[in-house]
Amino acid sequence: MLPRFRPTLLAATQRAIYFRARPMSTIVPHTEPQRKTLVLLGTGWGSTTILKNIDTKKFNVVVVSPRNYFLFTPLLPSCTVGTTENRSIMEPIRHIVGKRNVKFYEAECTDVDVTKKQLVLERTPQAVSSGSSNLKTKISYDYLVVGVGGTYNTFGTPGVEEYACFLKEMTDASKIKRRLKDAIENASFDNITESDRSRLLHMVVVGGGPTGVEYAGELHDFMVEDMKRWVPELASKFRITLIEALPNVLSSFDKRLSEYTKAIFEKNNIELRTSTMVKEVKDKVVVVQNPDGTSEELPYGTLVWAAGIRARQFAHTLREKLPDAQTNHRGLVIDQYLRVKGAQDIWALGDCTVTENAPLAQVASQQGKWLSRSLNMMARDRSVTDTFCQMEERAQPFKYVSNGSLAYIGGEKAIAELPFFNQHITVGGPLTSVMWKGYCLWELSSVRSSMSVATDWIRRALFGRTVSVD
Ligand SMILES: Cc1cc2nc3c(=O)[nH]c(=O)nc-3n(C[C@H](O)[C@H](O)[C@H](O)COP(=O)(O)OP(=O)(O)OC[C@H]3O[C@@H](n4cnc5c(N)ncnc54)[C@H](O)[C@@H]3O)c2cc1C
Ligand SMILES: NC(=O)c1ccc[n+]([C@@H]2O[C@H](COP(=O)([O-])OP(=O)(O)OC[C@H]3O[C@@H](n4cnc5c(N)ncnc54)[C@H](O)[C@@H]3O)[C@@H](O)[C@H]2O)c1
Repeated sequence: MLPRFRPTLLAATQRAIYFRARPMSTIVPHTEPQRKTLVLLGTGWGSTTILKNIDTKKFNVVVVSPRNYFLFTPLLPSCTVGTTENRSIMEPIRHIVGKRNVKFYEAECTDVDVTKKQLVLERTPQAVSSGSSNLKTKISYDYLVVGVGGTYNTFGTPGVEEYACFLKEMTDASKIKRRLKDAIENASFDNITESDRSRLLHMVVVGGGPTGVEYAGELHDFMVEDMKRWVPELASKFRITLIEALPNVLSSFDKRLSEYTKAIFEKNNIELRTSTMVKEVKDKVVVVQNPDGTSEELPYGTLVWAAGIRARQFAHTLREKLPDAQTNHRGLVIDQYLRVKGAQDIWALGDCTVTENAPLAQVASQQGKWLSRSLNMMARDRSVTDTFCQMEERAQPFKYVSNGSLAYIGGEKAIAELPFFNQHITVGGPLTSVMWKGYCLWELSSVRSSMSVATDWIRRALFGRTVSVD
């Protein structure tokens, strides 16, 4: 387990007063000139793991991210229907930092000068209150860790950006929740036509990877447990369709788990359209190419695009600065010590990199643990010098060890692929769902989050889900 810090009520209050009393511009980083400055980009699985484990007495640590919280992504699909509350899976970065000497910039890193070792930071326009200036600043680094993650991939499919919802960030989950609430409220109007009602209550999910499958499972639970209770006249008209281009869903899992999921979806009335490719998304219809090559338009109320991810823009900005070594268009190429190829004193981890490992939270977090341990060890071993990056002399290469994969598929059932000696075992059903819940509670970043999620689950069991949105 990672060391966890929880501020006392008094310390938290003092800090709140301190931050309120001082305008942003007067906060100066507490840098020690004899220490090197380590800048972490991102507050996701990779960078947050480093932040928790790095020795702040050895480095001046600076964190840059447009998100001032860590997001526990495995429970993001359940926030779309109110199974868990949004804030339960958002851990404030200031809680993680605690009393340690870390400077946090809520900003996006938009450019890098690898020669001068400088970064350009910009506040996102929506984060800036009106009248504020100074939206851009430059900071220097000695060492840089890039953990900016991935973003949704539309593959250039027309209409996706305009009409689809995504499921990557908390803002996406809130948007889906609002659409769901609106669809139900609009469909309950008397003067609406039957075909419009049927369209509004048709939820389409594109992509049969774990994100699409978990979201479809959550939607199903919402329909049978909540809609049937509160709006029974609409529940029978609620339809879920999952569209997948490949012949099977969950193609990264064992074939038996994919078949099991298919059978459960059939039982749960989730329509699975495999070997079907989405070609275009329009305002109210989605255009698909069926397995026989014919084209069809399916009316939808809400469409969630869960068709995979790609590296974020900053990864490409950095790649362009290193044209000789960074030739892979999918993301940053790193070596076995997580060093960005062609760069000096820059490491990268997680979904913004291209490795043989899948883009998974457990990969990013294991990389984060490995890198923080290596950096701490090297800083302890000797005074930090220009040859700091000669990691071969000091550390073993990073090696990912899979702890297995779990996915929730709805109806209190989950599937799991677990390592067993050199093989893996596959399990699925209600007991696996208990295991999945246990995994989530264990892996959540703090006792506060674990307690919040456990309370959400109890509240849901007793009173149903909350879909009220402002
Ligand atoms: C719905 C869903 C469920 C998932 N479930 C699982 C699961 O059960 N198990 C599993 O192993 N994996 C799961 N994943 C995958 C997992 O979430 C990712 O692999 C993981 O988040 C990657 O971690 P990361 O640190 O690379 O990036 P992220 O966690 O995406 O973090 C990236 C960070 O960088 C910040 N950032 C972005 N741009 C900039 C910039 N320009 N400058 C500074 N900061 C920036 C972002 O705000 C964010 O804080 C799931 C993913 C999704 C979407
Ligand atoms: N429980 C878990 O372990 C979990 C949960 C969510 C995500 N993740 C991980 O996060 C990463 C991203 O997962 P994901 O599910 O978002 O993406 P994914 O890449 O795993 O799956 C996307 C699916 O969309 C399909 N697709 C793409 N374009 C399409 C189109 N035009 N029409 C129809 N189908 C189309 C692809 O064939 C693919 O099966 C993966 O590494 C995944 O393992 C893991």
